[in-house]
Amino acid sequence: MKKIIAFAGSNSKNSINKQLVTYASGLLDDATVEVLDLNDFELPVFGVDLENEKGIPENAHKFLNLIKSSQGIVLSLAEHNGAYSTVFKNIFDWMSRIESKTFFGKPMLLMAASPGGRGGASVLSVAQNRFPYHNAEITGVFSLPNFKENFSDGKLINKELDSELKKAVSEFEKRLEHASTTQAS
Ligand SMILES: Cc1cc2nc3c(=O)[nH]c(=O)nc-3n(C[C@H](O)[C@H](O)[C@H](O)COP(=O)(O)O)c2cc1C
Repeated sequence: MKKIIAFAGSNSKNSINKQLVTYASGLLDDATVEVLDLNDFELPVFGVDLENEKGIPENAHKFLNLIKSSQGIVLSLAEHNGAYSTVFKNIFDWMSRIESKTFFGKPMLLMAASPGGRGGASVLSVAQNRFPYHNAEITGVFSLPNFKENFSDGKLINKELDSELKKAVSEFEKRLEHASTTQAS
């Protein structure tokens, strides 16, 4: 069984992005999914002086190890002012001080959900441009706009969007298969 981690780039209790990663990762066949919550990995605000004085906090190591020991990542980013949420940027910055290739070449299904019509287009663009420098293998990108209208009771209720997501999930699964055969040979 492949071990997949799924998480939202958010620390909201009722995160719409966490709802989306939970749904999307639940569509995976033949995988053990661990849905992580950044609230369980609290970290001080990154600063070079703090790092020099106190070193890198344990939670940054813990999260990075979860990425490293997984076989794939399902991630949905909250968009704050056109960019990553503070909590995501913070853990990303801390982890990048341990290992700049933060995503270890793992297949990644990259998503964003927003209450408005743009579906996190700005943060998706930031991440799509940046993550490859950190060795992310982005297998597909899915944007969910107008969350309240399109998602209900833990499911995507817009059929077109649901079918788009299922295609992206299936492409992610193919790449997981490919990655495991390549590693095995
Ligand atoms: C500080 C702040 C800035 C925001 N900026 C944006 C934005 O630039 N674009 C957008 O679509 N939504 C923006 N929003 C709305 C978020 O998309 C919305 O709060 C969403 O629920 C965040 O995802 P989450 O529920 O997973 O935390 C912003 C919200 C906050 C609190």
